[in-house]
Amino acid sequence: MLTATRLAPSDFIAPLFIRSGKNIRKPITSMPGVFQLSTDTAIEELKRLESLGIAAYILFGVTDAAKKDATGSYAHDEDNEVCRTLRAARDAGVTMLAITDLCYCEYTSHGHCGPLKNNTVDNDITVEQLARQAVLHANCGADMVAPSGMMDNMIAGIRDALDKNGKPDTAIMSYAVKYASSFYGPFREAAESPPQFGDRKTYQMDFRASPKEAIKEATIDVEQGADIVMVKPGTAYLDILQSVTNAINVPTAVYHVSGEYAMIKAAGINGWIDEKAVALETMHAFKRAGASAILTYYAAELAQWIK
Ligand code: PBG
Repeated sequence: MLTATRLAPSDFIAPLFIRSGKNIRKPITSMPGVFQLSTDTAIEELKRLESLGIAAYILFGVTDAAKKDATGSYAHDEDNEVCRTLRAARDAGVTMLAITDLCYCEYTSHGHCGPLKNNTVDNDITVEQLARQAVLHANCGADMVAPSGMMDNMIAGIRDALDKNGKPDTAIMSYAVKYASSFYGPFREAAESPPQFGDRKTYQMDFRASPKEAIKEATIDVEQGADIVMVKPGTAYLDILQSVTNAINVPTAVYHVSGEYAMIKAAGINGWIDEKAVALETMHAFKRAGASAILTYYAAELAQWIK
């Protein structure tokens, strides 16, 4: 009766990394238990997640090096890994909410989140491209798109393009409050997307800046049409998650990112902490701080533990 914070499998969004090929389950060294999957094995994984009660998944494309270029044009290929998997999931009768990450770092040869101008991401060209990527994913079956590149005005551009292209019902989850964080380290191995020079500090947020900046970023995205606003990373940013949740009138999501996963996993494997207890405690903290949805590589394990 006095338990205020409860977890359910439907709180979690499961991230999947999709690469080319068949029958592939390639382990990600720095994220034990997480794999790059080919479309066929991804469908098996989606069915397993669905049977565990997980309600949503998010796809990240892993692009063969030969297909990467300066603008990330493979992101617009309707036969790329993400598009193929969306169609295959629909054909296989998967009913979970299909979300796609919208970004270019997985498609550009330089590993930045959009095409460059003067060695930095060209914001406005990237927004135009993101709008195109969003419409493509929606046409392939995405229920929700999640732009992760932290470009200014990205939500307005994407909302407008979806509406004009017959996809008014495709929702947007904005990576609105995304810090330039060292906790993303293992993801860059998982998605094969590290920046080839420099860092992402010209577009991601500075964790030393005023927390008011988070409210500003979130508010702008809600005004432009974001249906869900995300805070990322999670554990080190619970204060931000709570204040953003209180300040805006749409649900918040939190991303328990690759480095946060890796730390719990590694300590658990070594027997230094109780992995299950620590993971569950972390997820309760996210809910207590106000998150409606939690993106986590622990989704499947959590669903089993909760049961
Ligand atoms: C791409 C993107 C990143 C993550 C999600 N989308 C990497 C980055 O911004 O460098 C990180 C997720 C994680 O660490 O689990 N823009």
